[in-house]
Amino acid sequence: MRHLISIDDLTDAELRGIASRGAEFSAGLAAPSAPLAGQVVGVYFAKTSTRTRTAFSSGSLRLGGSLIAYGPGDLQLNTGETTEDTGRVLSGMLDVLVARTAGPEAELRGWAAQDRMSVVNAMGAEEHPTQALTDLTTLVRHFGRIDGLRILYAGEGNNTAAALALALTRFPGVEFEVRTPPGYGLTASVLERAHARAARSGARLVERHDMDDLPEGFDVVYTTRWQTTGTSKPDADWRDIFAPFQVTAELWRTSPGAVFMHDLPAHRGEEVTADVLDGPRSIAFAQATNKMHSAMAVLEYVRAPAAVADPEPLSVRGVRDGLVAAR
Ligand code: CP
Repeated sequence: MRHLISIDDLTDAELRGIASRGAEFSAGLAAPSAPLAGQVVGVYFAKTSTRTRTAFSSGSLRLGGSLIAYGPGDLQLNTGETTEDTGRVLSGMLDVLVARTAGPEAELRGWAAQDRMSVVNAMGAEEHPTQALTDLTTLVRHFGRIDGLRILYAGEGNNTAAALALALTRFPGVEFEVRTPPGYGLTASVLERAHARAARSGARLVERHDMDDLPEGFDVVYTTRWQTTGTSKPDADWRDIFAPFQVTAELWRTSPGAVFMHDLPAHRGEEVTADVLDGPRSIAFAQATNKMHSAMAVLEYVRAPAAVADPEPLSVRGVRDGLVAAR
């Protein structure tokens, strides 16, 4: 029985194993099995979701589990029951709880303060770990590797950016160039942890608060929508501050081979122009489908860990096992 609340909960081998297993599901190479047979998965979303909620619901059913869905108004949390008491009670009836609270990580740790029910963070205030795992699977499917990729992230230093920084800095040779609007960067805690990871692995993380002097030849350009789910911005003129960080076709002048990724939902004309999101370099919608494949790998990780134990280098698996998508 395991939880997945932060990318930092995972060892390097576990991170690689989940990315690799997600790619197996995505490539249709995972042998049919029902590791969740006889188990019940609760899916509690206090905030809106199209992809993550459906990915974990569909993924649970495909792995043989049964499902109970809770919306924002359903639990007695609303009337003051503590997260610890809620976790304790639900753990007597559920095997997994997938929760999007958009609240602090401590809340999820409260749900996890029992030893029977796995808790999965489907997006909190600090981190969106299952998004980063989806993105690693998408990179494996597209490039057959993660090591050595050069990735530009332009936009808010939100929970998706945080999870990506914590995940990508585990991979040798990765260059993660983060460009965030002033006042909307990665937190000091994420920067400190990600830099420590990078120093150990040989990855590189740079954050700046402008779009000047961009290096050339990125493999990936990534953005997220400017209005992160469950948050609001304190300053009235935030759109002016964000405007220079919009992803446009101009970025492909110096990175012609880059693919475009976006965790979605997107607002065309805000964080990205329509010609980029809907253009030939975009893999954003394949990335969205990979949420389900990655969710299945996460569900196996928390309930059937042997299936995701794969410490082999992803570059070896990607090529040998045909995980790379045809293009
Ligand atoms: N990217 C993502 O988490 O999408 P949803 O908010 O629709 O789940």
